[in-house]
Amino acid sequence: MAQSSALPAEQYNYDIVRKFTIMAMVWAVLGMSVGVYIASELAWPFLNFDIPQLTFGRLRPVHTTLVIFGFGGSALFATSYYIVQRTCQARLAFRWLAEFTFWGWTGGVALGALSYTMGITQGREYAEFEWPLDIAITLVWVSYLLVYVETIRRRSQPHIYVANWFYLAFILAVALLHIFNNLAVPVSLTKSYSLFSGVQDAMTQWWYGHNAVGFFLTAAFLGMMYYFVPKQAGRPVYSYRLSIIHFWALIFLYMWAGGHHLHWTSLPDWVSSLAATFSIILLMPSWGGMINGIMTLSGAWDKLRSDPIMLFLITSLSFYGMSTFEGPLMSLKSVNALSHYTDWTVGHVHSGALGWVALVSFGSFYHLIPRLWETKMFSQTLIYVHFWLATIGIVLYITSMWVAGIGQGLMLRSFDDYGNLAYTFIETVEFMHTPYVWRALGGAFFVAGVLVMVYNMVMTLRTAGSEASADESARLAANLAKA
Ligand code: HEM
Ligand code: HEM
Repeated sequence: MAQSSALPAEQYNYDIVRKFTIMAMVWAVLGMSVGVYIASELAWPFLNFDIPQLTFGRLRPVHTTLVIFGFGGSALFATSYYIVQRTCQARLAFRWLAEFTFWGWTGGVALGALSYTMGITQGREYAEFEWPLDIAITLVWVSYLLVYVETIRRRSQPHIYVANWFYLAFILAVALLHIFNNLAVPVSLTKSYSLFSGVQDAMTQWWYGHNAVGFFLTAAFLGMMYYFVPKQAGRPVYSYRLSIIHFWALIFLYMWAGGHHLHWTSLPDWVSSLAATFSIILLMPSWGGMINGIMTLSGAWDKLRSDPIMLFLITSLSFYGMSTFEGPLMSLKSVNALSHYTDWTVGHVHSGALGWVALVSFGSFYHLIPRLWETKMFSQTLIYVHFWLATIGIVLYITSMWVAGIGQGLMLRSFDDYGNLAYTFIETVEFMHTPYVWRALGGAFFVAGVLVMVYNMVMTLRTAGSEASADESARLAANLAKA
């Protein structure tokens, strides 16, 4: 179980955690609103308005960058800086370097998103930053590693809690992925060409892409889970031994699975089969981790009835289980032949992204915010409202994508009696219109939930501000009385 603090709260660096928490919510609102907008563009293409900056092609990477790196990344910086201090019982090392990670990361994400609207991109999915930004991000990341490792080195606890292992693996793996996938020859300040070509280029990109999922969207959020679930449940993690097995199995297996993004291409068949095999085995540690998280609540299941934060955390683990079941299924070559060029993939992505990544972050923030600002949440009811808006949103999103994706896949594969394709491509596009409308609606529900959270957070911070000034006035009055 995570250690409780021996240092008084004011001896930790909470300022940096607060900044990243606020920015995570800013990026959530922006990135997810862009998500709803591009979802609406797919349903009603006139929304492109023939304005290049607003077209789906330019806004899509703006969405993925703002939600993954803006929202997800800032949530990970915030929670990792908090957890490493609390579990090591040491103040965050190198204060100015930590500040640099905040400004560098925030500036990098903002400039990147802006550059995509102007059409400046490397065209590599989830790695669209052009080379000057890639170099800047590398500096930020090395600083992050230094701050993290030095804080662990200064710990006053002999043990390094398992959450830190997950965060460290994430920091190291992302450094490796970022550097190798972005090796490029610059030809101007805004244009470069990859050092790789042909199938090697595709393989490098998907080695990166899949491990971005494995280490950025999974391992690091598991670190978050291993701290906040036991803390919120007020119980030790179900099996510490299982968490160690979970860790080593996960980081060993993920690296081999990237080839499942390139089934039925010019990738050698054995690489495809190897990737599928490792993907199937990945189910085991993934479910081990999910069970470990959920079972932490055993003996205290009643908390699900009385604690909305627990609802967020346990539901996120259920979606983690669901998407890590669906992923191995989709990695089978026969299933992938149906799913690959369809929205089934997009549905899978968002059951992981909204169900797992976003919900575990919201749950952790609801735990964190009162502790960071030394107050309590403004409204518990609004946390429930957020939870239900988010859950309805996710269900609408992923079910509509199953209908659109599996429907389109089946239509594209059906033949008439003469062996001709039974449907033209445009007929599949027509068929997908209705599910696209439902997906946009699901996204709107999800964003509405985020706005409720932002309102709750703003009111909490305001209350904290007025409580602090009331305390200050009381202290001044007491001093005056003494004088
Ligand atoms: C309100 C919530 C959201 C909505 C409405 C939304 C909508 C969309 C849409 C319309 C696309 C483009 C799909 C396509 O190309 O056909 C997309 C792609 C994507 N989104 Fe979201 N999104 C939301 C939240 C998120 C979050 C929170 C994350 C990550 C943490 C995320 C990660 C992604 C990724 C990785 C892709 C690329 C998927 C792929 O290439 O298969 N989204 N999103
Ligand atoms: C055991 C775990 C998992 C396995 C084996 C797995 C497997 C897969 C497979 C086979 C695809 C489709 C590849 C294609 O046809 O192009 C895919 C796509 C994707 N998955 Fe997973 N998945 C897992 C968990 C997750 C989780 C938890 C998330 C999110 C947090 C996630 C995010 C994504 C994304 C973003 C893509 C789309 C990539 C793209 O085409 O742009 N996956 N995954």
